[in-house]
Amino acid sequence: MIPHPSQSALDPAGTGADSIASLFWVMVVGGILIWMIVVGLAIYAIMVPGRHDQKTTRLFVIGGGAVFPTIVLTALLTYGLAMLPELQRPAPEGSQVIEVAGVRWWWRVVYRLPNGTKVETANELHLQVNEPVEFKLTSEDVIHAFWIPALGGKVDMMPGRENRLKLVPNRVGTYRGVCAEYCGEAHTQMAFDVIVESREDYDAWLSRLKKPVVQGSEAASEGRQIFEAAGCGACHAIRGTSADGVVGPELTHFGSRRSIGASVLPNNSDNLIRWIAETHQVKPGVEMPAFETLSPDELRALSLYLGDLK
Ligand code: CUA
Repeated sequence: MIPHPSQSALDPAGTGADSIASLFWVMVVGGILIWMIVVGLAIYAIMVPGRHDQKTTRLFVIGGGAVFPTIVLTALLTYGLAMLPELQRPAPEGSQVIEVAGVRWWWRVVYRLPNGTKVETANELHLQVNEPVEFKLTSEDVIHAFWIPALGGKVDMMPGRENRLKLVPNRVGTYRGVCAEYCGEAHTQMAFDVIVESREDYDAWLSRLKKPVVQGSEAASEGRQIFEAAGCGACHAIRGTSADGVVGPELTHFGSRRSIGASVLPNNSDNLIRWIAETHQVKPGVEMPAFETLSPDELRALSLYLGDLK
């Protein structure tokens, strides 16, 4: 398994997660105080013998049983609702729009570019620190849910419907996003990496993403032939080559990604070979067939080719 980057809603790195974490801590502290008062009163009632004054007990029942909870719950509701307008406000005009579709069991990611064109990638998001980003969330099959706990709240991905979510990451780092709605066999292996970076790093990444693949080394070209012969291009697209499949994850810059199989294994040559040859052992339920018939040399060449796609 891959060492997980931060996946904690209590270690916020975005404005949405900040307010959700504050609400959580207010509730925890409030809950502890109220618990201490209730337990204190119970101990008092047990320890102090004799009949208690009728008037005082009535005051406790009405005050503690009805008035106090009403005030506390109203205050909490008001505090929680007051956060909503900001959390739900769309990102300002001109913000980066990213379309993410949940697919069993991976993520199709499409960046909309300012000139109106789009560029596709998969299972990894790059975001610019302190810049709002607008997500358009859909599903290509069943209900999934898009959640980056460190950055903000979660939103369902429904087939036939587009939900939106605004996030504002405010700390550079690598975070983990997950599918938060049970969607079948590989649900727990449906995750993605989120890299929040400076404007310079982000711009460099985006301009690289737009480019089709650059032809690699001699060894990699052997892998490319195996990729073509094995029919990988029927499902996967690599821009700049004849591979133009759309049912599987886009692979143009696969070699630059952190992980394999929707954040299941760290992206390196050995893991890639394992993924291709033993796909179903690594991720039971995955749609991709295992290519057990490829020889170790062929697998090595194929992993070189894919690893070279940067
Ligand atoms: Cu997709 Cu759970």
